[in-house]
Amino acid sequence: MSKEKSEFLDVDPNFATKAIHVGSEPEQWHSWAMVPPISMATTFKQMSLDNSKGYEYGRLDNPSRAVLQKCLAALDEAKYGLCFASGLGAMTALVSLFNSGDHVVCGDDIYGGTNELLREVVSRLGIEISYVNTTDVANIAKAIKPNTKLIYCETPTNPTLKVTDLRKVAELAKSKNILTAVDNTFLTSYFQRPLNLGIDVVLYSLTKYMNGHSDAMMGALVTSNEEIYKRLKILQNAMGIVPSPFDCAMVTRGLKTLAVRMREHMSNALKVGQFLEKHPAVEKVLHPGLPSHPQYELTKSQTSGHSGMLSFYLKGGLEESRKFFKAIKIFALAASLGGVESLAELPTLGAHLHVPAKQKAEQGITDNLIRLSVGIESIDDLLEDLDQALKAATS
Ligand SMILES: Cc1ncc(COP(=O)(O)O)c(C=O)c1O
Repeated sequence: MSKEKSEFLDVDPNFATKAIHVGSEPEQWHSWAMVPPISMATTFKQMSLDNSKGYEYGRLDNPSRAVLQKCLAALDEAKYGLCFASGLGAMTALVSLFNSGDHVVCGDDIYGGTNELLREVVSRLGIEISYVNTTDVANIAKAIKPNTKLIYCETPTNPTLKVTDLRKVAELAKSKNILTAVDNTFLTSYFQRPLNLGIDVVLYSLTKYMNGHSDAMMGALVTSNEEIYKRLKILQNAMGIVPSPFDCAMVTRGLKTLAVRMREHMSNALKVGQFLEKHPAVEKVLHPGLPSHPQYELTKSQTSGHSGMLSFYLKGGLEESRKFFKAIKIFALAASLGGVESLAELPTLGAHLHVPAKQKAEQGITDNLIRLSVGIESIDDLLEDLDQALKAATS
């Protein structure tokens, strides 16, 4: 398999091949099945008291999970992948690496559920968290304390699509011996590979694009750091946050079409973004692939494309937003993202409902901020749907 380029502007030329074949090699199964059999077993016969065939108990490890973990690692050009019962399950394992008295510097614009986990659970356990705007790495530098153990961010952020310079974050963290982790759910390993930019751990909600069909819930952590991997593997088992073998098979199947799906998501979302920018009912569009985005150049330097995610400010307030959601026909008002179907949500009443009002105001999460997960339906149908809903909202 040819080596990845260190410059990150091109899509990995081997990505689609790896997504289809790595982990799924037929020769490993007695039947030589082209598609990995689902192994539902929770326990495995051992050869002797001190000799097993690699698997012992389902929570510890499982052949269907192993297939997926191998593929996930390959796609990020990492050594190790670990799957968890959800994206937040992966985050729970990640923060469990740290102890009471440790300090975390965290992006201030993160998925609402991650925000809630950090505020409601992690802070109570004595881990201190500073929320900063990571789009300026100087803010991270200022927040670092002697007990800082982790720098964590999403890029692009959910839902305001802000971009953080991952090379600079990695450089800063390495100079201070601090671990870095990035939520790469929006772009996936197809468009962005943070480990190649110097980041230590990548987090995924596989529930989104990686599975891509809105029918499995799972998360993952990917790393090449052996020590961190070993500690996370212990946590995966000890905390019991493991996915079912069936769901692992679903995500393994989803990954096989990730490259094609992401190209379609990107194409459709760019067209939607361009359309919205010209629409009289729209105040502003947030999409890192549009030249109007403040970090358009930075984005091009660290990603090879864009997902189906964008947000926009509708002209008006809550009333107009309500009318928009009532009028959409193909776009569905629904939580989540990254499936083949187009979804729309109002973050302030959806995923970010429990984020403190002050933090939402600072992030620009207002009553007229609408987030779209643009699917892979026919683009003309999507544009027509948005057009009629925007007209209904502002008439
Ligand atoms: C960016 C991001 N990270 C993490 C998560 C959490 O993932 P899960 O819902 O699989 O726990 C989500 C869920 O929406 C998300 O959007």
